[in-house]
Amino acid sequence: MSQTKHPVVIANWKMNPATQNEAKTIAKATVAIAKKNTHATVVACVPHIYIAEVKKTTGQGPLLVGAQNCHVDVKGAYTGEHAAMQIKDAGGNYVIVGHSERRKMGEGNELIAKKMLAATVAKLSPILCVGEEVRDTQGNFLTMIETQVVTALSALPKSRLKDVIIAYEPIWAIGTGATATVADVEEMQMFIKKVLTKQFDRTIARHVRIVYGGSVNADNARELFTGSGVDGFLVGGASLKPVDFGKIVSATK
Ligand code: PGA
Repeated sequence: MSQTKHPVVIANWKMNPATQNEAKTIAKATVAIAKKNTHATVVACVPHIYIAEVKKTTGQGPLLVGAQNCHVDVKGAYTGEHAAMQIKDAGGNYVIVGHSERRKMGEGNELIAKKMLAATVAKLSPILCVGEEVRDTQGNFLTMIETQVVTALSALPKSRLKDVIIAYEPIWAIGTGATATVADVEEMQMFIKKVLTKQFDRTIARHVRIVYGGSVNADNARELFTGSGVDGFLVGGASLKPVDFGKIVSATK
């Protein structure tokens, strides 16, 4: 398995932690992890309200900051929403798009495609989440993943595709303690590369980084990373525990 690329490990804090103080504590510890692990790009996707604070903690340091969602428009009457440009202006460089927890709230592939475009226009690197609810034996889940990838990337100019990260997150593995097997993740990683080659070309398929997410922890990270060919991880629960998150990041060495 060739691991020629620079790994990327993304923390997805979701709607955590409960206070600004806790956010500062986790941010400081995550900055230290990023400093110790220069072999990887470390990104913290935090609630919008914490973006500026986490950015202040890292300063020009190696921890990069991201959001977990953005709106499709640049500004306007959208109560409660945040534009990609506002995330960028607050210090963000990344944004998660199409997380299954948002798809569950009603986001479909077409809307996700528009958000991908909005993110790249604002010069944010989008982290596109794809994943199946169940693995059926007929392989229908593969067709569904293909549609998620192809639709989400269809509106992007070719020049921005290299900024895209695709996170394969099987829904049944998110927050459940159940992970996909190394073989399943490897198969999916190769399948997504095939889809990208078909939709674009080999060069783009090589450049787009693919990470795995779903119950990644300090114990399973090394095996998942070395065995599956992914470029890194999208980490939910364990990203709020700096000791564990540190181990996950070093597992990508
Ligand atoms: P988890 O979440 O690591 O807690 O399973 C991953 C995610 O939802 O991004």
